[in-house]
Amino acid sequence: MNEKKTRWLRLEEVGSTNDYAKAMRHRKEDTLITAKRQTGGRGTKGRSFSSGEGGLYLSKLSFYENFPAKEAFLIMVCAATAVCETLALYGFQPTIKWPNDIHVSGKKICGILIENAFSGAFVSSSVVGIGLNINNVLPDELTEIATTMQKEGGQVFSVEEVAKRLAAALEKKWTVQDYKNYLGYVGERVTLLCGEEKISALLLGVDEEGKLQAEVNGEKKVLSSAEVSLRV
Ligand code: BTN
Repeated sequence: MNEKKTRWLRLEEVGSTNDYAKAMRHRKEDTLITAKRQTGGRGTKGRSFSSGEGGLYLSKLSFYENFPAKEAFLIMVCAATAVCETLALYGFQPTIKWPNDIHVSGKKICGILIENAFSGAFVSSSVVGIGLNINNVLPDELTEIATTMQKEGGQVFSVEEVAKRLAAALEKKWTVQDYKNYLGYVGERVTLLCGEEKISALLLGVDEEGKLQAEVNGEKKVLSSAEVSLRV
């Protein structure tokens, strides 16, 4: 999406690398921010993100020219595919749990939080926040649903090396097809949460805008992440 050189700031501790990146928007300079730990890591839907030492907490601030807002899903495509490609370099078989989680062995290993700024019908800048569980110890309440590279690979990984590989993968132009190649749970029965309502559905895929395609009661539906959450 852009060919500019990206500055890399390495921090020891920060509240949230996404907040730090957003506060730098006025500089209009592509910037990568990594931190060893976060004290106020943020997830989607106002949730917190466990961010202990040993994980990778990265935010990439990017500026665009003439990038139509209707193509904003490409930002998630690039982030999720870059994470999957990085994990695959270590021999893992990651899948994307639509729209923004990366799973290994059916458990969450990475979460992505994208925060865009708009100018009319265009995306002017984005902050792509990635939290990847590497050697960090997960809190007890997450051990059933989340995992780490260390747990899955049975060894300690260099956070710096993972960061460099992920930073390189984030520079590449990935396509919706690349995202689809990693999309998990396709052809499987899943639960869609719509407010309080739980809907059983067959997951079919995603469309070019990043909407979920699913079959509900024999009928094909196209659903946005604002409408439903996916439970697997
Ligand atoms: C989610 O799973 O809901 C998304 C989690 C995103 C976490 C990353 S860690 C780096 C960046 N800074 C944050 O505060 N959040 C993102």
